[in-house]
Parts: sequence; structure tokens; C-alpha cells
Amino acid sequence: MNQTTHRLALDDPQALDEAVRVLAAGDLVAVPTETVYGLCGDATNGRAVAGIFDAKGRPSFNPLICHVASLAMAQRLAVFSPEALILAERFWPGPLTLVLPVRAGAGLHPLVVAGLPTVALRMPRGPLPEIAGRMDRPIAAPSANRSGRVSPTTAEHVLRTLDGRIALVLDGGPTAHGLESTIVGFDADGPVLLRPGPVVAADLSEVLGRAVGERKEGSALSAPGQLSSHYAPHGTVRLDAERPLSGECWIGFGPDPAEITDAAAATNLSPRGDLREAAAHLFAALSRFDGPDFPRIAVAPIPREGLGVAINDRLKRAAAAR
Ligand code: TXA
Ligand code: MG
Repeated sequence: MNQTTHRLALDDPQALDEAVRVLAAGDLVAVPTETVYGLCGDATNGRAVAGIFDAKGRPSFNPLICHVASLAMAQRLAVFSPEALILAERFWPGPLTLVLPVRAGAGLHPLVVAGLPTVALRMPRGPLPEIAGRMDRPIAAPSANRSGRVSPTTAEHVLRTLDGRIALVLDGGPTAHGLESTIVGFDADGPVLLRPGPVVAADLSEVLGRAVGERKEGSALSAPGQLSSHYAPHGTVRLDAERPLSGECWIGFGPDPAEITDAAAATNLSPRGDLREAAAHLFAALSRFDGPDFPRIAVAPIPREGLGVAINDRLKRAAAAR
């Protein structure tokens, strides 16, 4: 908490130069992707990587996603199976992360993979591939929030928990998807969905021509960051609520119930019941009600299909006892 955090509009002509300068010095910059804002550091630089864990207050066992400029850069870092290659070619740049065996001599700082034999790679939309290309290095970036808190979908939201802890934030406005990338790993039986996200299971199995397995609790292949309590606002969260109880904050989906007048405050993820719109608004809604003024939050039911699987996954973690 001892530095000035500068803020530049993404379309400022200096923005990318400045981001590259900060990263090359081993310092940190928050950058928008199509999912959420990432807290970026040079993945080959120990000072930068340690700085990410420090700024986030993240448990060090939790490995970081590396963002690449191109498939070629990704293949220098990890070994792609034929199916991994198909997924990268179909969905990159885009909201899909692949967990793959790390290549010997990849040059990643060991803290990035937190001792695992695998690395999580993704090529996002937005300025990160160009930044990684100019650096000629992979960029490690978790979501740009303090550990355990709601992921940021705007620059304001980044500054809420990281102001004074990072050198720069590039402001590209609200992100398109509003939920973190889908994570896919591979075990002996084939592809496994480690974290649901904007690329839904049906998209993956259509491209691969076979079903994608579910993550097994406690299996060797898991996304260690999938702690049961995550995205936690200050107050308690009640899910699948038909209506707000007196004094609760209300997060609606679809038409609001008449009892919304009992709510202490209210927002709606998508009055017309659209899952994409709801995903894009989810973290902003949780963030709006994240504070001592909002001790109890109730959330309307959201269908557990398509993108609703990822939305319910994040809500379940926001509601988990802690
Ligand atoms: O959309 C996103 O994925 C955003 C943007 C910034 O790219 N990033 C993001 O990162 O959500 P983070 O650090 O908040 O979540 C990364 C997840 C964690 O659950 C972590 O445990 C998992 O990826 N992960 C990273 N490396 C892994 C590995 N080698 N094996 C399994 N899981 C891994
Ligand atoms: Mg996160």
C-alpha cells in the first residue's frame, strides 16, 4: 500500500507503451480482458510474480494463469495434445484456459505454477496478447482483486481493492463476459472441465466430438484456486430466493417479485432473463452489495443450464460458509 496507482484509458496512445514499461521493470499493471480485469506481471520475473501474490494476498499454493501472445508462444511453454490444439485453434483468442504439461526449460518462474507439473495457458481478447508479444514473454495474471473477493469487471472495481498496491490500471470500460474463463485440463480419460465459464460444456464437446468430463472432488487434476468460499461479499448470501425478506438486498433475474419493495436495496442481473446479460452484471452486483451496510443478500433462482452453470458456480462460492 505504498505506491501511486496510475490510471490510463486503454485507447490513450501511451497506454500500451506504459504497460510494457511497467512490466519490463518487474512491476504490476491491471489490464482488461474479455472476462475480467487481470493483475499482470512478467511470468518469468520472480519479483513480479511474488508481487502478484503479495498484492492479492493470495495463498502461495494457488498457481497463476499465463497469458500468451500467440499459439506459438503457448507451444514454447507447454506440450499440446491433439485435442488441446483443436481447442486452442477454435477458441483463442477467447475465454478458454488450457491446463497442460509444462515444457522443460519454459523459463516460467517456479512460483507461477506453484510446484505443479502443469501450467494454465490462455490467449485472451483485449490488449494482453499485444503486450505479451511486445514483451516477448508470457504474462501471469490472476483476476485483479484481493484474494477471495469478487472479480473485477471495471477499472473502478480493480481500484477498490488494489489502489496503492499496483503501478497502473488500463481502463477499457466494463468487460464483455463478466465471468472468468472456462478452464479445461486433461487426464487419462480425456478433457475435464475444471472451472465452468463463458465457453460452455456443450461448445467444448461439439468441437471435440466427445463429452467433457466433470471435475472430481479431491482428484489430482483440479484447479486449486477453486476454494469453496470465494467471491465473498461481506454479508451472507441466500440463493434461489423467490422473494427478498424484509431488510435483505435483492439481486433479481427475470421479472422482480412484488415483495421487492421489502428489500433494503435491489438490482437485477437481467430483467428479461438473459444469461449472457446476467453473467456480465454478476460481479458488479455482488460488488455493489459488498460492504458493512449490506449484511444480508438474497439472489433469485438462475437456471442451471448453459452459461447459468458458471453463474451458479460463482454464486455457490459467494454463498459458502466462511
Ligand atoms: O478469465 C480469467 O481466467 C482471468 C483473466 C484475468 O484471465 N483469470 C483468472 O485467474 O480467473 P485466477 O488466478 O483468478 O484463477 C485461475 C484459476 C485458479 O482456480 C487456479 O487454481 C487455476 O486457474 N489454475 C492455474 N494453474 C493451474 C494448474 N496448473 N492446474 C490447475 N489449475 C490451475
Ligand atoms: Mg480470481
